[in-house]
Amino acid sequence: MDTQFLVIGSGMAGLSCAIKLAEEGAQVAVVTKKYLADSNTNKAQGGIAAVLGSADSFDAHLEDTIRAGGGLCDQEAVRLLVERGPAAIKDLTDFGVRFSKNLEGDLDLGREGGHSHRRVAHAKDLTGAKIEQALIERVKSLKLISIFENHMAVELVSSRELGDQGKERIVGAYVMDTVSGKIEPFRATAVILATGGAGKVYLYTSNPDIASGDGVALAFRAGAQIANMEFFQFHPTCLYHPDAKSFLVSEAVRGEGARLKLADGTDFMKNYHELGSLAPRDVVARAIDMEMKKSGDDCVFLDTTMVDANLFPERFPAIHQACLRFGFDPTRQMIPVVPAAHYMCGGVHVDTGAQTSLPGLFAVGECAHTGVHGANRLASNSLLDAVVFAGFAAEAATKWGATQPLPGSGPPIPPWDPGGAVDADEQVVISHMWNEIRELMWNYVGIVRTDKRLARARRRMELIRHEIDEYYWDFVVTPDLLELRNLAECARLIIECAIARKESRGLHYNADHPKTDDEKFGKATIARRGPEGGYIFGG
Ligand code: SIN
Repeated sequence: MDTQFLVIGSGMAGLSCAIKLAEEGAQVAVVTKKYLADSNTNKAQGGIAAVLGSADSFDAHLEDTIRAGGGLCDQEAVRLLVERGPAAIKDLTDFGVRFSKNLEGDLDLGREGGHSHRRVAHAKDLTGAKIEQALIERVKSLKLISIFENHMAVELVSSRELGDQGKERIVGAYVMDTVSGKIEPFRATAVILATGGAGKVYLYTSNPDIASGDGVALAFRAGAQIANMEFFQFHPTCLYHPDAKSFLVSEAVRGEGARLKLADGTDFMKNYHELGSLAPRDVVARAIDMEMKKSGDDCVFLDTTMVDANLFPERFPAIHQACLRFGFDPTRQMIPVVPAAHYMCGGVHVDTGAQTSLPGLFAVGECAHTGVHGANRLASNSLLDAVVFAGFAAEAATKWGATQPLPGSGPPIPPWDPGGAVDADEQVVISHMWNEIRELMWNYVGIVRTDKRLARARRRMELIRHEIDEYYWDFVVTPDLLELRNLAECARLIIECAIARKESRGLHYNADHPKTDDEKFGKATIARRGPEGGYIFGG
């Protein structure tokens, strides 16, 4: 398969980038490991932040983003992000996304934690699904885009592997058809990673099953720089019910007046932050964790009865329905909630053109570290990041492509070599290892960390990594094995970056180093692959 651009992933970032590239006349292949709509985007409830209200300003959005980011945001990237916000909303509206309006016919702007103004455009509580749907329709209408569903990237291919001794660049990827199991080379002028997050690295997560950190793992193995993996955001309010599979209760519900409470009705957030239940997410998640540890309770409660009972079903239809399904009427009773892993603030390190440290490789959306989220992402900035940087990536990739030989003219990528691999005797080992990783990450690398817990996690992961490596080389690869291998790579990166940061900041709280140390750690943690499975820290 030869194409100009290979986009891996089909959430908002990947599809937006593919659309922009195709609209410029480029030929694009989009590979996605399940179906097009299987993405984190599709589950986003809250909305997309942008300066849209008359009292709001770019400076205010910039300041809120930087304040939440705990001193690690890249100011230039944040400015670009917020200034492109209104145009991004307009583009999405032109694609057919119908954002909710108020009675005056203006956009109904929601409020979320850490925002000084109402600035969250939403389509009720189904914003992501509506955006995804509009983008899919547009992608399907563009003839220059070829879609490969049920296809998963196995490894990136570098020019070096093809015997080119010039400056190293990424020239494609091996891609598995997950139905037939066949692995084929896809050759491309540039590869754009848009694989989303890695929430499945934790036992409890708001993320869908596809969130196994594939892009970060692919880039890391190829030698790219990865940044800030220690900053994993836990969403404070996932519905607590054995069958709810971490159903998210949007922060927008708190924006409309809901308050976090203990079982006896105590409004505990007042003791932690002046913004109470609307404090930035790191503060809220840590406060809940502390209260649950103090009381021994399995959850805290969200008092949704404080939201206008007539408004709730209209403004939050999906949440309302889900709560009723699990036996809670949010207009009449408090609903039980717990924090769960939600968003990876780190990722493949990129510049403002979404270019990674490897020429020919770009990264967008949650799998990328653009510097806009710093040590803690401001709510609803992620969809904005996805669409804005997808545009920058399309521009930069187009420029890069113009300097490269035409697709199909370089040396061919050799066929995938399965070596002496045989069919695995026990597939169940994969789910055992997967569960082990998720439990150890939750127990030792969660909301509150210590040196001892991190060291324990590192030791256990070392063992698991060796077992996965053996499995990978001995047995025929399957999609489950590929996901496990990627997930393990992300888990190790999170652990190693957390060990390297001996301070507390934003989403990384280490009880043995509770203070922020700007002098030593006031910058991003940059890691790349070292010899023998080790790490090299620094630029
Ligand atoms: C939410 O709706 O609470 C999630 C929004 C986000 O994570 O930005």
